[in-house]
Amino acid sequence: MFNAPEVQSPGVRRPLPAGPPDVLSREILELKRRHNAVILAHNYQIAEIQDVADYVGDSLGLAQHAAKTAADVIVFCGVHFMAETAKILNPDKIVVLPDKDAGCSLEESCPADKLAALQATNPKFYTIAYINCSAAVKALSDCICTSGNARKIVEHAPKDRDLLFVPDENLGGWVMEQTGRPMTLWKGNCYVHIEWTHAAISRIRREHPDAPIVAHPECTRAVRMLADEVCSTEKMVTYCRQSPSKSIIIATEAGMLHRLRRECPDKVFIPAPTERCACNECRFMKMNTLEKLHDCMTRLEPRVELPDDIARRARRSVERMLEISALP
Ligand code: 13P
Ligand code: SF4
Repeated sequence: MFNAPEVQSPGVRRPLPAGPPDVLSREILELKRRHNAVILAHNYQIAEIQDVADYVGDSLGLAQHAAKTAADVIVFCGVHFMAETAKILNPDKIVVLPDKDAGCSLEESCPADKLAALQATNPKFYTIAYINCSAAVKALSDCICTSGNARKIVEHAPKDRDLLFVPDENLGGWVMEQTGRPMTLWKGNCYVHIEWTHAAISRIRREHPDAPIVAHPECTRAVRMLADEVCSTEKMVTYCRQSPSKSIIIATEAGMLHRLRRECPDKVFIPAPTERCACNECRFMKMNTLEKLHDCMTRLEPRVELPDDIARRARRSVERMLEISALP
């Protein structure tokens, strides 16, 4: 049985909800036992996957759990860069994911060769990479961050270096506002989070004047400035638990609503509307299904494999992040 360690990003580890799980879920739990596997799932995964996972959380909590697990097999339900991070931290373990094509628009926006070319223009650059990037980009970076620790990572960056923040310009802009530290920002964004607009959020605020707005830092500044709280998905859980409000407006990917409803069953969560469409689902996160999870646990495929050199260099920058994160 997987023992969740004490971590800053607590996530959730609960038995399945009341009532018998369906056949597929039961078989997944049996495969988990047979392989001595741990199932790690991001907050944006579909409800059925969250409900069979050992741990559900944000990118930081998932990396912290991956770094400490005693399981032989890590089954990662999230997008590819998250599973890759688990492999970076566990080169000798088997890491599988339900769908190898589950990418991320931020990762796509920052090819390693283009980053290397920019780094070559300034030898004083200290590169901080948001964890939503490839292992090759992590290998080129000095330190990794997540939305849950970006501020702390920037505050601990060497004062005599010029900061280069990749690949999310919105998260980077938010951290600059928090820390006052100037940074060169890569021009990448999350295709889901930029769909929320100032106009759409203002409208929902007028409809629910008593409901606070919680937004992810990948949202644009125009949206962040309307929010009562801007934070990572895990910190959203803490905020909502502590808030005296009965209704809360959530501006992040739709999977988060399942996690929040489980954690705070007495509250009403209102998905913030987007301007052009109801597109608050990440198509990459939603590529994972219970069937694909069952299949990958049966075959122990597809696996994440990485060239040794990239994995070794990427591990340095991920471990630096975990060390700084653990500081008081
Ligand atoms: P969190 O680390 O806050 O869960 O965010 C991950 C992500 O991909 C947001 O789009
Ligand atoms: Fe990437 Fe955005 Fe999907 Fe998160 S929600 S995995 S940042 S595309």
